[in-house]
Amino acid sequence: MKRNKLIVANWKMNLSVPESTVLLEKYLGDIKPGLSEVVVCPSFLEIYSANKVLAGSDIRIGAQNVSWEDFGAYTGEISASMLKGFAGYCIVGHSERRVHFGETDKVVAKKAAALVSHGITPIICIGESLHERMDGLTKLVVAGQAEASLTDLTGAEIEKSVIAYEPVWAIGTGHVCEPKKAVEVVKNIRNLVKILHGEKVAEGVRILYGGSVNEKNIASLVKEDEIDGFLVGGASLDPDIFAHICDTVEGRKESIAKLENDNNKSKTTKKKKKK
Ligand code: PGA
Repeated sequence: MKRNKLIVANWKMNLSVPESTVLLEKYLGDIKPGLSEVVVCPSFLEIYSANKVLAGSDIRIGAQNVSWEDFGAYTGEISASMLKGFAGYCIVGHSERRVHFGETDKVVAKKAAALVSHGITPIICIGESLHERMDGLTKLVVAGQAEASLTDLTGAEIEKSVIAYEPVWAIGTGHVCEPKKAVEVVKNIRNLVKILHGEKVAEGVRILYGGSVNEKNIASLVKEDEIDGFLVGGASLDPDIFAHICDTVEGRKESIAKLENDNNKSKTTKKKKKK
């Protein structure tokens, strides 16, 4: 089964509303529509205006978090029913939420179910820490997180969901996971889904890789067809780099050449300045 590639920009807690709008406008100028889906996840505050800026374009909008409750006395929370109509995707269980906000697999599972009940596609993040990898526990940890985080979804719901394999040690560190190793984990996740929910579900669910994806490593990651796309943090804040990543996933050559050309030009300018 051919799965559509998905490229997700996770802006995390960056950019004011005016800055976000400027960046979205740059995305509109730089990212050409193609076969892959491109999703941008700005802050909650930006989501409303992002809908206006991106109206009529192919770039979709996602959120970075959601409450598992629908409404009520939950100060500071945003629910899936509030996001409905404004965000088609939502990241859940990002390691930064697991580490800094104590989110457990159980919470992640409830959030994913809340999203699905409002027709929003969850992007469920899982991944091992450096210690776990060094102790040879990657397979076990990732399988445990995957099973527990998907537990509140039916097979049919999982088939339409997205899982992002994000090794914690690769996030924001510049240490990307070696493509072959990422594929190994992605295959293990798909196999687990197959054991739990059967072949059709396993073949449908999209499994992304995330963690220090940038303009330098995207070409080697993209060669791995088993990876259905990428969750991009830091590199998505630079529109040229993010467009380059999208172009590489799409197999477009021109903009790759343009970025290389720009890089060479800036190197030459720097050299001239030194003289
Ligand atoms: P990074 O972040 O690309 O900056 O490593 C990825 C993520 O946290 O989703």
